[in-house]
Amino acid sequence: MSDPADGTGGRTSAWTREHARRLERTAENTAPVIYPPESKTDPDNHIWDTWLLRTPEGAVADVGGYRVIVALTASNDLLPGKRHDVATHRFYYSADGRHWTPGGEVFDDADPLGSRQWAGSAVYDPETGDVRLYYTAAGVRAEGALSYTQHLAVAHGGSIETDAEDGVRFEGPWHHESLAHPDGEWYERQEQSRGMIYTFRDPWYFEDPETGEAYVLFEANTPVPEGSDACGGDAARQEFNGSVGIARTSKTDPTECELLPPLVDAVCVNQELERPHVVYREGTYYLFVASHRHTFAPGIEGYDALYGFAADSLFERYEPLNGSGLVATNPSNAPFQAYSWLAYGHRDEVLVTSFLNYYDYDRPTLDDVAYLPESEQFRRFGGTLAPTLRLGVDGRETWIRGALDHGHLPTEEEDLPETEDERIARLRAER
Ligand code: FRU
Repeated sequence: MSDPADGTGGRTSAWTREHARRLERTAENTAPVIYPPESKTDPDNHIWDTWLLRTPEGAVADVGGYRVIVALTASNDLLPGKRHDVATHRFYYSADGRHWTPGGEVFDDADPLGSRQWAGSAVYDPETGDVRLYYTAAGVRAEGALSYTQHLAVAHGGSIETDAEDGVRFEGPWHHESLAHPDGEWYERQEQSRGMIYTFRDPWYFEDPETGEAYVLFEANTPVPEGSDACGGDAARQEFNGSVGIARTSKTDPTECELLPPLVDAVCVNQELERPHVVYREGTYYLFVASHRHTFAPGIEGYDALYGFAADSLFERYEPLNGSGLVATNPSNAPFQAYSWLAYGHRDEVLVTSFLNYYDYDRPTLDDVAYLPESEQFRRFGGTLAPTLRLGVDGRETWIRGALDHGHLPTEEEDLPETEDERIARLRAER
């Protein structure tokens, strides 16, 4: 399909039904039950998908002693299930990585693309001061009825400012530009979609540490035309066709974007491989995505969970972590307690942040939530940062080592406390 000279090999790795049949909750991949925190990350707004402002090389950016997160937000009075229809990017900053000060809307005085903005990524280059804010333009600006078209967009030309009095602020004017639309060949267009809504969203900037090349990863779907022999010709399974897309961009021109074949797809397996991102550890590329129980194809029992794959170079074959792809999931008595996991490296471990979603312990199915009285939907929705998970990582294996507090996002400089297991080992050795 692709030109072999483009350096990608043109191969798309498959997450297969055989891998996915091995999905199973274990002590290594099941997160502890979460209790709601005393106060929310943002007292006035629900927050959900969240990402750290990073340097182009992927480190947590330091802006005058602060680290910064950008999150999808909607007013607290909005019914949680309606939040996607009005999602607005707001930012928060923190000197200690534990207490987050609301900084306001990211695009205060500007007109971002789309009728609302969904997930993306944020890059700050401390050398040049350049800021790039990637996002999903969902719908069309100023549309009457909400539409669900999606494309990748970037805002650039603005800056990030800091001083002791005002903390941190993003300053426009921003140039909002469309980066990419699905091409219909590697990436499904809306009109080709045969199943649930198509996806073309969640742009995530990544510089390959081994080649120095710049890319944007994103969530998409692989076209599977009617009559295709995919999934043994099973039409019901063919509707599940999620992929992790990738495009080449430029370090100097944020608007440059050339689509390449997807890195991974999950045809016959899962419809949504959300918020793809890579963590590079000693020669291994760990590719993570979030997905839902209800987006698995018929016959596969999956979870709302963080899934992952590993490869020896960005365009090599990706193998599912732990054999199945499952990295971290919610406990069975609170299966929707967290979602939209985002992993980043911290010394020899990987930290994973997410948001507290529906923590309905007694009625743990998604449909139930929508049919509950509104007061119950509010009561059971977190809309705040969840405890940060600590992952051990070794080759193609991962395991949950423990958790930090709600919304605790350390930088590399911060020493983390011993985990429970380390503590037990120490106490036993001291006896
Ligand atoms: C994941 C997600 C993203 C999207 C956002 C919309 O939680 O589905 O893919 O950008 O939510 O709210």
